[in-house]
Amino acid sequence: MTTVAMLKHHAPPGPPPIGTNPLTQLRFGLRVTGDPLNVMLGWFKQHGDIVHLQFGETAHVYFLAHPDHFHTVLVEKADQFYKAGSYKDEKRGLARILGNGLVTSDGDYWRRQRKLIQPAFHARRIEAYAEEMVKLTQRVLQSWQDGKTVDVNDTMMRLTLAIVAKTILDTDINADAEKIAEAVTVFQRLAFGVDIFPLWLPTPTHLKQRRVEKTMNDVVAALITQRRKVTEDRGDLLSMLLNSVDEAGQGMTDQQIRDEIVTLFLAGHETTANALSWTWYLLAQHPAVEQKLHNELDSVLHGRPPTLADLKSLPYTEQVLQEAMRLYPPVWNMSRQALTDVEVGGYIIPKGSEVNLNTYAMHHDPRWWQEPEHYIPERFNTDRQASVPKMAYLPFSTGPRVCIGNSFAMMEARLILAATASQYRLRMAAGQPPVQMEPLIALRPKHGLSMIVETR
Ligand code: HEM
Repeated sequence: MTTVAMLKHHAPPGPPPIGTNPLTQLRFGLRVTGDPLNVMLGWFKQHGDIVHLQFGETAHVYFLAHPDHFHTVLVEKADQFYKAGSYKDEKRGLARILGNGLVTSDGDYWRRQRKLIQPAFHARRIEAYAEEMVKLTQRVLQSWQDGKTVDVNDTMMRLTLAIVAKTILDTDINADAEKIAEAVTVFQRLAFGVDIFPLWLPTPTHLKQRRVEKTMNDVVAALITQRRKVTEDRGDLLSMLLNSVDEAGQGMTDQQIRDEIVTLFLAGHETTANALSWTWYLLAQHPAVEQKLHNELDSVLHGRPPTLADLKSLPYTEQVLQEAMRLYPPVWNMSRQALTDVEVGGYIIPKGSEVNLNTYAMHHDPRWWQEPEHYIPERFNTDRQASVPKMAYLPFSTGPRVCIGNSFAMMEARLILAATASQYRLRMAAGQPPVQMEPLIALRPKHGLSMIVETR
């Protein structure tokens, strides 16, 4: 008898089941949403690589942290999993704001949309954005002076938002883009928080949600209507979406375009902004790494702004970012739902169960990483890359649902880091509270990052 057959009727170990008592459920919900990452890390430590939690009578949730299990769910058996219900809930989940875009859709619909949108991310297309990315970064840098205190997380959010607005909608950052960003933040908190009130109750939070939702939908609808009137390709993603047709000659409806735009706004700015924020934080704590980065930038750029062509001469700049995304993966957890009974790591995960892939735990596991808590960008040297276990480093995921914006994000982050670090260094400001992680969809610094700008 195989191990699989022997194990399949047992659930993996995990915390005691959370019964049906609403008060116990609420207490548990508050504890987990208050500190989800640490609660989950505690479970892995106590119970091993696959943790099982039973919630109420029927809900089974699994937490995975082993590279082989990531491979099973994301690659080998990817077609046996859909995005989890928490994404798809149209009232309280991400789907309320994202609709049925690339992040939340599944099956044939997702496949069709992915195929239609993929060309917008081809290298040639996104490389055309490099100049714009640097220009928008320079605009921020011009507003800095020596000694100025800035909230780096907020600044990076605004900058990546401006970049996404320009490249997706060919619009300069303006009130419209800010409205979309505000709605996206409000709904992340809704999806990840505990709200015991029915949604029809006009609590201040619900009223705010309705307000930002309406404003955002109006803004996007107006944009689409306006752009439908012109047929020229303006080089932005919206042009691509408006002009794309599938094999049957079918284009996208306004609703489909709306969902994809809002999805790209969410997926395309927070993640990159947080990757950069954590990089600035780490550089401020690691002067030797910072010095090596400065040496590379000075020898290649000699103080001028970077271009796309420079990126191949800036390997350490890339490693600095790669290692920051290992320690602080912007997408720290990915959730799926099993479509059938499916075997993972010797256990049968029953149909309908939720599966959470914890990238953060995997990126910090001493079995795959020497000195996992240390910031060592050289791990990603080309001659040392072989020692980086392939499936143990997945900031952009892998398999068919791999991040569509991977190359866009890495180009953008390298250009922003290079342009900024060749002019300035950033130091923690005296008033900054201890830096903590806030794990929403993206892993962000909880109280922002107050830093002082120093001219180099
Ligand atoms: C450092 C920056 C970024 C990181 C770390 C990141 C990471 C990820 C990860 C881990 C996923 C898979 C999520 C899952 O399957 O549950 C994902 C999906 C996605 N990302 Fe990114 N991302 C980044 C930047 C971007 C950018 C710049 C864009 C677009 C402009 C983008 C668009 C998307 C989309 C549309 C999906 C869904 C793809 C699909 O399921 O077909 N991302 N991203």
